Amino acid sequence: MGVEIRVEGLTKRFGRQTIWEDVSLTLPAGEISVLLGPSGTGKSVFLKTLVGLLKPDRGNAWIGDRNLPQLPEDLLYETRKLFGVLFQDGALFGSMNLFDNIAFPLREHTKKNETEIKRIVLEKMEMVGLIGAEGKLPGEISGGMRKRAGLARALVLDPEIILFDEPDSGLDPVRTAYLNQLIVDLNAQIGATFLIVTHDINTARTVPDNIGLLFRRELVMFGQREMLLSSEEPVVRQFLNARRVGPIGMSEEKDVSELEAEAAAGNDPGKLPPIPPQLMPSDGRVRPTQHAPGAWLRAHGVTPPPGSFIDDLGRNWIDEWPRYVASMGAAPAGGVRK
Ligand SMILES: Nc1ncnc2c1ncn2[C@@H]1O[C@H](COP(=O)(O)OP(=O)(O)OP(=O)(O)O)[C@@H](O)[C@H]1O
Ligand SMILES: [Mg+2]
Repeated sequence: MGVEIRVEGLTKRFGRQTIWEDVSLTLPAGEISVLLGPSGTGKSVFLKTLVGLLKPDRGNAWIGDRNLPQLPEDLLYETRKLFGVLFQDGALFGSMNLFDNIAFPLREHTKKNETEIKRIVLEKMEMVGLIGAEGKLPGEISGGMRKRAGLARALVLDPEIILFDEPDSGLDPVRTAYLNQLIVDLNAQIGATFLIVTHDINTARTVPDNIGLLFRRELVMFGQREMLLSSEEPVVRQFLNARRVGPIGMSEEKDVSELEAEAAAGNDPGKLPPIPPQLMPSDGRVRPTQHAPGAWLRAHGVTPPPGSFIDDLGRNWIDEWPRYVASMGAAPAGGVRK
């Protein structure tokens, strides 16, 4: 399950304003990827381009074997059905209760009868922990519940790809932690390709298999989580460690004099913090597409910062991994990536 997305040389402009250009990346099928970037760098525009709501000015965006910019209307419409999208505010209809909100895509896009619709809606509501809230209006529930309702609605058409636009914005740290766990559990369960836009550094550091960073109208870097978390590239380093020292300023980009002043003041970006272990599904299973901890670093001869891959119980996940995988029984479908 899950469809690969391959973006090649993608460029988007509005009039004379270039939002980003020459973006190339591959979202591997079934994996979780995070897209980071300062406000206004075009992350939401990128998601909208991937679902075909906005047309790129140049480049290719392959959704499986279909290249979006070249699709005729009818195929574009079909391709959109592969996607579930969680919009930033949940984008629920205020006058409809949660059941009807979640049922909406099924009533709109399928010919299923009401019995079938009810079964699907309740199944998805159970997946996101919303059973019992069917009759509530969006205005009567908390922000966290609205996010989960938006997620349930994104799930009803059994998407192959799910795009999350800041699923954690406006949530308290505990709710964010639950939501992150829910995202990892969902990925383990349905195996769709996930792309998450977030500003939450903890989410970016612990949830995904891959991380990308947009800055100054380009994709600075995209690759496996361990690649970005061990990177010395100044923008990546500053962003993933939430530092003020570095090329990113309050209004996106610092000018040369600010950077020179920083260098003169001897401000250094500090040591890279340890790479945390990746968040596991709550039933302890290994996700089919999960990468073995430390695999990317070993393959590229990179030594992780001291204290990396050690969890709250003091276990080192690089040492534990082979035993852990063996204890979970047979390797999961798709095998464990080396
Ligand atoms: N339909 C549109 N027409 C013209 N300009 C647009 C349109 N949509 C977005 N933009 C511009 O594109 C740029 C990127 O916007 P976008 O919403 O993608 O940023 P973002 O990275 O998602 O920011 P944030 O982190 O604040 O959500 C902004 O300058 C915005 O004004
Ligand atoms: Mg946005």
